[in-house]
Amino acid sequence: MNLILFGPPGAGKGTQSELLIKRMNMRQISTGDLFRAAIKNQTPLGQEAKGYLDAGKLVPDSVTIGLVREVLSQLKGQSFILDGFPRNVAQAEALEKLLKDLNLKVERSLFLEVPLDELLSRLAGRRVCKNCGAVYHARSKPPKQDGVCDACAGPVIQRPDDKEEVVRTRLETYEASTKPLKDYYKANGLYVEVIGLGTSEEVYERISKALQVKAH
Ligand code: AP5
Repeated sequence: MNLILFGPPGAGKGTQSELLIKRMNMRQISTGDLFRAAIKNQTPLGQEAKGYLDAGKLVPDSVTIGLVREVLSQLKGQSFILDGFPRNVAQAEALEKLLKDLNLKVERSLFLEVPLDELLSRLAGRRVCKNCGAVYHARSKPPKQDGVCDACAGPVIQRPDDKEEVVRTRLETYEASTKPLKDYYKANGLYVEVIGLGTSEEVYERISKALQVKAH
């Protein structure tokens, strides 16, 4: 099954993608991770994207769609999760065309619903490994040793765009651009919604059940 996973910043898309790729042998395509890797490696894409990520704004559609086209073209039949793409209606329309060109199909577009106060607490407490990108939370999922990644011993830091002022812009961008995708996917019959509250395992259970039932 190929899946679109969308929702507000901090809803748990990355966390759930990680569980899905391990347990359902899927490939995660996270545009946010791809941009962060490009910034870390100082590639031309990274130089172009950096200002947008730092400000909490969307990278221009032409750049983002080109990137997704490149990744999708290289898949060798493996099921995929689009995490963080599409993020507006123009990207969703471009994705439809892209899938058609590449003879691919997305079966579900799954929205993770999480209330604002919980999003703010998740984003404020999120910590990430600067080396490998492993995700922690200061309260609910701290690394074993403070400031040190369990997986690679790299430094565990706050993501620059998790600072309060940038989070505000990211949430506004979500409301204006990404939330309208709910109606877009309801209209084309791919939409499923899952409550993203509870432990990661509880959310995963809900997702796996929701993926087995018919979309509406
Ligand atoms: P991106 O990296 O995609 O950011 P986002 O959508 O804002 O999502 P997040 O990564 O913040 O959150 P998440 O839902 O993955 O939550 P997570 O699992 O980490 O994009 C970053 C930027 O890139 C954008 O602002 C934009 O500039 C650019 N960009 C990306 N895609 C783009 C596109 N298509 N077009 C244009 N620009 C684009 O969890 C968050 C925290 O909560 C963690 O600490 C985690 O441990 C914790 N947590 C998770 N689940 C639970 C749970 N069940 N209970 C308690 N805590 C939990």
